[in-house]
Amino acid sequence: MQEKAWWKESVVYQVYPRSFCDSNGDGIGDLNGITSKLDYLKELGVDVVWLSPVYQSPNDDNGYDISDYQAIMEDFGTMEDFDRMLEEMHKRGIRLVMDLVVNHTSDEHPWFVESRKGKDNPYRDYYIWKDPVDGHAPNNWGSCFSGPAWQWDEETGQYYLHLFSVKQPDLNWENEKVRDEVFSMMNWWLDKGVDGFRMDVISLISKDPSYADGEAGLNGYSSFNVCANGPRVHEYLQEMRRRVLDGRDTITVGECSGVTLQEALKYASLDGKELNMVFQFEHTNLDADGDNKWTDKKCRLTELKEVLSNWQNGLDGKAWNSLFWCNHDQPRIVSRLGNDSPEYRERSAKMLAVCLHMMQGTPYVYQGEELGMTNVPFPGVEDFRDLDSINAYHELTEKGIFTEEEMLRFMRYKSRDNARTPMQWDDSANAGFTTGTPWIMTNPNYKQINAAEQVGRPDSVFRFYQKLIALRKEKEIIVYGGYKLLEPDSESVYVYERTLGKEHLLTACNFTDREQEVRLPEEAAGREASLLIGNCEGAEWGDMLRLQPYEAVVWNWKED
Ligand code: NOJ
Repeated sequence: MQEKAWWKESVVYQVYPRSFCDSNGDGIGDLNGITSKLDYLKELGVDVVWLSPVYQSPNDDNGYDISDYQAIMEDFGTMEDFDRMLEEMHKRGIRLVMDLVVNHTSDEHPWFVESRKGKDNPYRDYYIWKDPVDGHAPNNWGSCFSGPAWQWDEETGQYYLHLFSVKQPDLNWENEKVRDEVFSMMNWWLDKGVDGFRMDVISLISKDPSYADGEAGLNGYSSFNVCANGPRVHEYLQEMRRRVLDGRDTITVGECSGVTLQEALKYASLDGKELNMVFQFEHTNLDADGDNKWTDKKCRLTELKEVLSNWQNGLDGKAWNSLFWCNHDQPRIVSRLGNDSPEYRERSAKMLAVCLHMMQGTPYVYQGEELGMTNVPFPGVEDFRDLDSINAYHELTEKGIFTEEEMLRFMRYKSRDNARTPMQWDDSANAGFTTGTPWIMTNPNYKQINAAEQVGRPDSVFRFYQKLIALRKEKEIIVYGGYKLLEPDSESVYVYERTLGKEHLLTACNFTDREQEVRLPEEAAGREASLLIGNCEGAEWGDMLRLQPYEAVVWNWKED
């Protein structure tokens, strides 16, 4: 068995602070709101909280555009509120992971304010400035949020690079002073007592010095592909390990857009030279049209199984997986891969949870996922807040690529705002999130779907997540066992086996609204088995497992 580590045995809960809990009635979630809900997280049983950015920011991209890395955003509270929140987390045995957004800063960060003042400014080289080529931008890279990735600066006669919004200029990691600043800021937070970092688009920090054209995508995603896993990224992360993380007991996860399995083996190698684990996005990109996410295409189960199994087997014993369906950039999983109708919402949400949580890796639960929160019926474009969605709506409808109706349909299915509406705490006004007017609409289904109702009901999605999380603490095989996919060609069921020594877990999930049958693998047939967890009454062990619509079962058996 591989070496044990607490971060392999943990379950992480992601808090998107703007939408979690508002303590002062201004319609925006805040740190005191989070502190007030720590007992809820403790009850759920999570070990770690990953907090999306809470730093000073003009909020062009909801905090992913930072203007001061060592100050708290006023909307969210004060540094004293932060310290108290951290202390209260630690009292409950919950660790805190901060979001490290250092591929770019806000254009209002003092470094950039200086940088744009002139070519001789000492901060000029903190960012990526280039001369025009033949009177236009240095290459054809597109911003991930529509439009070109280069912004012309009239005053100094150069372009600066922004892979994201025009207000998110990319830092120049080639400049050793930039690395010094980032590493000392990280040390400052760790000295304060935080327990690790989730590193925003960390796979993009090293740009290929050729700055060659990329393949033009419908929506400007070409820059992702050309910038991912650049020539010096591993060198930078190893430097970070030496200068910041070595000798500290942390958890680190890199958001690695465009990462391949081969690259992940370097980023997240168990030799501990870089990160503990990465987020890869192959499985969440399966329902995109190439680089274009704006479609309502569904992903094929066979492809999903192939991708996830590839990661399970490819990293086993060499590197570590993170397991996720949801985050603040993804639509709600029950609406995406499950069935959000009243009949099957809870059952399919539990099935998806089983499917993910029984794999090898560290599971991430995104706020509201543990309630089976769904996508949102946004009435019109004016109800969206996310700049990615709004920019894409305008760009793609103006270019005539999609009609307004099509774009709205795609946005209701895929927009990041589906994950960003207020956390549904109870059935009072605004789902108990705020006493004021929320910054984004509340999902109208909060009267049926909310934490207060679920915490009190033994067969709720919340209680089911709680059980899954507890099982991970009880059974080593869930954390450390090997993985084997069964029934790879089925478009209906996801079946896999975990093995540790002589112990086996057989997980079978029905992804359809029809009954399905699964033949037991030969080595399991005729054995005695016990049901570890399931989401339907009456599950029976036998050579043929019969699964009800969206049923999930985990059977535990041992070799003699
Ligand atoms: C990835 C983050 O998860 C996303 O929310 C953000 O917009 C971009 N990186 C830019 O920071």
